[in-house]
Amino acid sequence: MSSLPSVRLADLSAHAGQQVTVHAWVTHLRSSGKIAFAALRDGSGVAQAVFVKNEVGDELWARVALLTTETSVRLTGEARVNPRAPGVLDIGVRALEIIGPSPTDYPIQPKEHGVDFLLNHRHFWLRAPRQTAIMRIRSEVEQAIHDFFYARDFVRCDTPILTAAIGERAGLFSTEYFDEGTAYLAQTGQLYGEALAASLGRIYTFGPTFRAEKSKTRRHLTEFWMIEPEMAWYDQDDNMDLQEELVRFLVTRVLERRPADLAVLERDTSKLDCVLQPFVRLDYGDAVKLAQSRGSDVQWGEDLGAPDEALIVAEYERPVFVMNYPKEAKAFYMKENPADPRTVLCSDLLAPEGRGEIIGGSQREDDYEKILHRLKEEKLPLEAYDWYLDLRRYGSFVHSGFGLGLERTVAWIAGVEHIREVIPFPRMMDRLRP
Ligand code: 4AD
Ligand code: MG
Repeated sequence: MSSLPSVRLADLSAHAGQQVTVHAWVTHLRSSGKIAFAALRDGSGVAQAVFVKNEVGDELWARVALLTTETSVRLTGEARVNPRAPGVLDIGVRALEIIGPSPTDYPIQPKEHGVDFLLNHRHFWLRAPRQTAIMRIRSEVEQAIHDFFYARDFVRCDTPILTAAIGERAGLFSTEYFDEGTAYLAQTGQLYGEALAASLGRIYTFGPTFRAEKSKTRRHLTEFWMIEPEMAWYDQDDNMDLQEELVRFLVTRVLERRPADLAVLERDTSKLDCVLQPFVRLDYGDAVKLAQSRGSDVQWGEDLGAPDEALIVAEYERPVFVMNYPKEAKAFYMKENPADPRTVLCSDLLAPEGRGEIIGGSQREDDYEKILHRLKEEKLPLEAYDWYLDLRRYGSFVHSGFGLGLERTVAWIAGVEHIREVIPFPRMMDRLRP
């Protein structure tokens, strides 16, 4: 076997006219009896292996027939540009080694499979071009998030997954924790983020969060990734400005760096240009009236449902902040709105194209008595919040933050209908495997 260093298929065009060795998987083989073509992929790109019976000799030619779908191989040969398909280089193969044979019953075939079948074979489904495009876009968004906050001098902080204090109203996963009672899987890193903001000023967390959501919708997972910045001395207006800047940055970055992946997904990218305009800022009361005028029966005081959110955004076709929800619709930690104490200083950012909420954010209640009162109203176990209340007793401070749902954001940018496709191994009510 050749001792040439192996070349990634994405880099093949730089080696046109040269002998190369590649490692790849076979996606498809066709043979005329004299000449055979194997479509290859290696994650970085694709190429076509060309075997000419007269040139490769009988022994190698006999092995070509074993190149079933997903066989992994090492190949050596000349890389050359094929004038009929300039994007996909040919390799005129001289040496072939089968590394991992693949039985002929590979489950995913070039035909329509139901989503359940594909999810049961997620470990294979992830090899499909559409799925790799989505994963690259997800990775780009994650990197862009880190770049955005790094450039602004935020400190990334990691917060616990096993917690005693409950952050949100959504369902909880719990487990017994030695002699300490019940531990909950974190629904949010926010409460710890607030402690860290008093320490470092501007921080963000980026990690998995867990909600025992009994909702089978296209935008709910039981395990999803959230980015939660928390900023000392930011009020709710500063908070929304930062969110707007972040979302614009993420979309622009994917448009610039992942056009090929967006093309695989057939994403109509003109729909994303709306992020360049200022985002709409709409008071909750006006949002309710707007939804009602478009046929919703939502009433003041209720949280907005997905259909309401879609009605509201349809009016503008760009991202919309819905601001200052009624207290009873939101979590205990949001700051009372001095202009209307029935409401709190908060916002949900709704993405266009009917995607609904991608960010929830608020200014935090910094008044000790008020937040204590809210904890009691919500019947939360005070002893789990003693440290959190301390933040209001020792040097309380104006602060705000938000949580951006990674999967909902990626699904919107990539134009993927259901968020189960934008995380490698989705966790939902009815799905724990693979
Ligand atoms: O609005 P949420 O519940 O806000 C919080 O958790 C706050 N503690 C954030 C903060 O202020 N630091 O969730 C924030 C975002 C939502 O806007 C949504 O994008 C996403 O997290 N999200 C989910 N994504 C997928 N599946 C679920 N079950 C989700 N629940 C929330
Ligand atoms: Mg929310």
